Amino acid sequence: GPPAGITWLGTPISELRRIPQCGYPQPPVMKSDSHTVLIWMNSMRTGGDLVPYPPAKDRCDIWDDWHVKMPCSDKNLLAAAQSRWSLIQRALSSSFHHSSDVKGAILTYNAGHAKKWDFTALHSFCRDGLSPSEANHLFSHLLPAMAKLALSASKLFTQPIPLLKAERSHTITLSQEQVSCLLANAFFCTFPRRSSRKNEYYNYPDINFSRLFEGNSHRKREKLKTLLWYFKKVTSQKPTGVVTFKRQCLTKFPKWESSEKLLTKLHITCEGTIEDDGYGMLQVDFANRMVGGGVIGSGLVQEEIRFLINPELIAARLFTEALEDNESLIITGSEQYSKYTGYSDSYKWAGDHEDKILRDRWQRRCTEIVAIDALQVRSFTQQFHPQKMTRELNKAYCGFARPGVDSQYLAAVATGNWGCGAFGGDVELKALLQILAAAEAGRDVAYFTFGDRVLMGKIHEIHSLLTQRGLTVGKIYKLLEQYYDSVCKDYFGHRPSITLYAFLHQRLGCLQARKQDVNSDVYT
Ligand code: AR6
Repeated sequence: GPPAGITWLGTPISELRRIPQCGYPQPPVMKSDSHTVLIWMNSMRTGGDLVPYPPAKDRCDIWDDWHVKMPCSDKNLLAAAQSRWSLIQRALSSSFHHSSDVKGAILTYNAGHAKKWDFTALHSFCRDGLSPSEANHLFSHLLPAMAKLALSASKLFTQPIPLLKAERSHTITLSQEQVSCLLANAFFCTFPRRSSRKNEYYNYPDINFSRLFEGNSHRKREKLKTLLWYFKKVTSQKPTGVVTFKRQCLTKFPKWESSEKLLTKLHITCEGTIEDDGYGMLQVDFANRMVGGGVIGSGLVQEEIRFLINPELIAARLFTEALEDNESLIITGSEQYSKYTGYSDSYKWAGDHEDKILRDRWQRRCTEIVAIDALQVRSFTQQFHPQKMTRELNKAYCGFARPGVDSQYLAAVATGNWGCGAFGGDVELKALLQILAAAEAGRDVAYFTFGDRVLMGKIHEIHSLLTQRGLTVGKIYKLLEQYYDSVCKDYFGHRPSITLYAFLHQRLGCLQARKQDVNSDVYT
């Protein structure tokens, strides 16, 4: 690998574009058939208090398969036509002295789950994770404030929230205050019909926090700390910004084998992270098709960590149906509330983070995150099957492309080993596929290898080689197909002895030596 002093290679990061400086004309926040805006737009422009839209007198409550079923809906009924919301109001207005009171409140309106739900993590967090004064603050201030926030749903939501259903592009814009109210409801597990997957929401992520409270792991304790810190911040000072969630569903994709696009610039580094050093860039969330993955349960890798430190992302789980191959979810304006150290089992909440990212003209933080879910790799060689490679190229393209926007305005993509941790993909392949998709979308790439210096050297080397040779996306795609045909096919799932990059070096080395001969098979 490169010598120890070298921490980055390629284009200096200062030459890559970031928002807002790059002048990206963000699509205006304006209500339309494809954009639901839950706040009054004038209030967004003037930067004053954000007001729910429409006004309370025109409140509209819908209980159907196209909208989120809200806890405060009149249709949220118990067996004997009793209002479930009244029960929630009563339960959350009582006082909390012990974690068992929280459990008791939650089970009042989730009686059917009383036997199954386990609150061990919550109990042990309250017992061992807090000093007496912290515990006192939790029970006498924070939990009542969170309960009040949850109960403000009927005031803060005056129109139904559409579901972001599969195979349909749609955008939802709401205030950070509205998001905080949704998350407080999630904490107290008030969302109806969401605590079992055996119903109309089988294809949606979990949103009620019941699984956060179960088990007894170090992970759960740190998750609770991180999320409670978020609630502490938003209940002591109401957040004043706006967040947009856009499901981007594409139906037209590039013809990869005949693309004439050239590679874009690459900055690659073995230091830093997507969230810290990729500010203002399009930041990739290494997602699950159920966005947020195991954030409420036990998962604690890249996606879950991002959702913990920027909890507003968790709201996406309320309305985002599982992502299909041709879809991504783009979230603009989420704020970072916490710092962290470690990763996975060593993850630790590391205190407050004051987010200093500028806001755009619609009061959104200039932080754009895109959730794209890689394929879970089961057979090492099959990931090189042209169908699988095309799936990943299309998925990444769907995250990176902004149809109708001139590429000179597009910020770079900040990414890393997408699909190569929990999902077991080959880093050489995934890095190259992302580089191709970014080229096709007209964006530069900032790649974070997460401490891997050798990998930094390798990716830089292959990118330089391909760029020097002037190879187009189409030609590189064909080389990838050749790797599958001539190397992978014979290995039946085992790791081939020659890696993708070694193969490319060999091929392109040959190309130089006997250009005449190889022309036909590389260039046709
Ligand atoms: N910045 C840059 N690189 C990172 C960062 C970071 N902050 N964090 C991790 N990496 P993984 P996947 C690197 O396993 O394989 C979740 O449960 C690090 O090298 O999170 O796509 C989702 O919900 C790490 O090994 O992504 C999905 O279910 C690599 O990125 C599933 O995991 C991959 O991170 C997705 O798994």
